Amino acid sequence: MSAPPRHHIRPISGWLNDPNGPLRWNGRYHVFFQHNPAGPTHGDIHWGHASSADLLTWRNESVALAPTPGGPDELGCWSGCVVVDDGMPTAVYTGVRDGHLERGAICLARADPAGGDLGRFVADGPPVVEGPPPGFGATVFRDPFVFSRDGHRYAVVGAGSPTGPAVLLYTCDDLTRWEYAGVLLDHSDDLARRMAPGAGWECPQLFPIADRWVLLLSLWTDGRPERVVALVGDLIDGTSAGSGPLGLRFLATDGGPVDLGADFYAPAVLLEADRVLMWGWSWESNTPDAVLDSGWSGVLTLPREIDLDPNGRLAVRLARELPNLRGQRLAAGRWLLREHPAEVAELPTSTWVTVRCPDDAGSTRLVLRESPEAQLSLTIDIAAGTVVLDRSGWATAPARSGLVVGPLETSSELLIEVVIDGTILEIFVQNRVSITERIYPQPGERRTLTVSGTDGTTLDVEAWGLG
Ligand code: FRU
Repeated sequence: MSAPPRHHIRPISGWLNDPNGPLRWNGRYHVFFQHNPAGPTHGDIHWGHASSADLLTWRNESVALAPTPGGPDELGCWSGCVVVDDGMPTAVYTGVRDGHLERGAICLARADPAGGDLGRFVADGPPVVEGPPPGFGATVFRDPFVFSRDGHRYAVVGAGSPTGPAVLLYTCDDLTRWEYAGVLLDHSDDLARRMAPGAGWECPQLFPIADRWVLLLSLWTDGRPERVVALVGDLIDGTSAGSGPLGLRFLATDGGPVDLGADFYAPAVLLEADRVLMWGWSWESNTPDAVLDSGWSGVLTLPREIDLDPNGRLAVRLARELPNLRGQRLAAGRWLLREHPAEVAELPTSTWVTVRCPDDAGSTRLVLRESPEAQLSLTIDIAAGTVVLDRSGWATAPARSGLVVGPLETSSELLIEVVIDGTILEIFVQNRVSITERIYPQPGERRTLTVSGTDGTTLDVEAWGLG
């Protein structure tokens, strides 16, 4: 069995999917997650909980929120967020019950002061929203995300109808009294239709960066989760919702993938004074039997920081604290590239490799090889401003072969970070583009990373074990 990740949030046993409601409280970071304590499959979803003082070392806490028998969440406490309401962290989440699995209710649960440091949330009152707005024809309705603008509090909710996906808007200045304020965005927007096709948009996250607004959408297609898109745009005032604050509309001006890898979904953000932190769910891509044997499934990515680059496109990098995970140095040197690819090192189970090229590198190719049947290649052309991921040689996932191309800003410098922690691989290019993939080395396999590129290019390469 492959060695599990040691520096990522994951359940020791049972199932994990979406991160929920990350927040900083009493000096610690708290991240909740969709969790089935009973086994490594999706079902009877609770909110699992992990906390950390420094974003580096995580402590698994006891389950924070559980379904109430006979309650609006009897079949599961699905995704949502945490807001501080009246000084009290409050989970705003999707309750599902029999016959309403795709169309949830929006429920509140308050941190229980008796439960210690965010140890437990207790369901509070009936749902604040019983289900989708009448007349919308929802086939999907879930995943509330609360945000503030101009002194008012709103929530977006992920949705879909036979005509396509949508994000619905509510006003909720008083967290116990929600009013429907219309469609924030749907497929009538050309850019959204092109960039974010699907049957439903799950886990919408809406937040400002500088003077723009960013909307993260997880695309639900053909009854399964697919990938995540970021739309960048503006919030414009719509029509008045009664006597309350204005209804808002999202006008998208640009968009693109949040991650180029195959194993990244349903990210959740935490807004801090000087940055936006993000965690995503990385599902298993191993065989179902191997997952059952291991007894656990799903891991959250390392915390990332997201920003807009000078062209106004989403830029993703590792949280600034993360280099402190580097432990023993395994290799360091300057490489002169010749015709043959240079092998960086035989990599241990958990490792961090940085490749840097101060001058114009032309096109540089990185190949991660687990076995003759499993190799992944990344070609970065910084003059052309592209990163191309080729996973057609990745035997564990034949269904997702092919090339994925991401845009970069053109530059004369190259920076690649490769972080492997057991079965999760995260690559960051130019502090702009991330790639998340799951890898399952078999016993005795030799994992190598090779670099090739324009003859005569020098690269600085360093590798560490993870501490
Ligand atoms: C996304 C999602 C959410 C839902 C949750 C259920 O992966 O489908 O839309 O609330 O997972 O676990």
